[in-house]
Amino acid sequence: KRLVVLVSGSGTNLQALLDEIEAAGADAYGAEVVAVGADRTGIAGLERAERAGLATFVCRVKDHASREEWDRALAEATAAHEPDLVVSAGFMKIVGKEFLARFGGRFVNTHPALLPSFPGAHGVRDALAYGAKVTGCTVHFVDDGVDTGPIIAQGVVDIRDEDDESALHERIKEVERSLLVEVVGRLARHGYRIEGRKVSIP
Ligand code: GRF
Repeated sequence: KRLVVLVSGSGTNLQALLDEIEAAGADAYGAEVVAVGADRTGIAGLERAERAGLATFVCRVKDHASREEWDRALAEATAAHEPDLVVSAGFMKIVGKEFLARFGGRFVNTHPALLPSFPGAHGVRDALAYGAKVTGCTVHFVDDGVDTGPIIAQGVVDIRDEDDESALHERIKEVERSLLVEVVGRLARHGYRIEGRKVSIP
């Protein structure tokens, strides 16, 4: 299976996928990353992709006349690599109708909180501020909401009294990286069915 991974930052989730595919072999894992896309330049995620010899593309909102134009450009740049599955690994933009029309149902996102709690761009900070005792990460299919699509898997992470946002996020990312690698491999190898909010992997 062909994966396109979308990033906006350090790309450690992308790196976890690349390392697993390298270690297991693309055949055994069931997928290979064919390209990495981003919404901005100058990020470690793109450097990781270039170091791995992967094709990359950047679609910046400000380079387009409208958000719809950006969404269409992102969809076209992604489609050019003929992905079977698109993985948002720290991609910090909400895609629009065009992107979902083309990749809905095969577009997976990882979020650093236990959805439906703490959706949005500050899930780690929000869980901490709320005084939650556990949080975690969620891998889900992207739908037309913000972090509202059908949940595939979740991992739980304890919140400690001494945690600040970055310490907690680092601990979440340790669980998140292995959850994402495991889920993407299962989806690629076994296929899946989405019925309403239920995801089943045979
Ligand atoms: C991940 O925790 C992701 O869930 C969140 O931002 C982080 C991205 O980390 N949206 P990285 O870029 O994969 O290191």
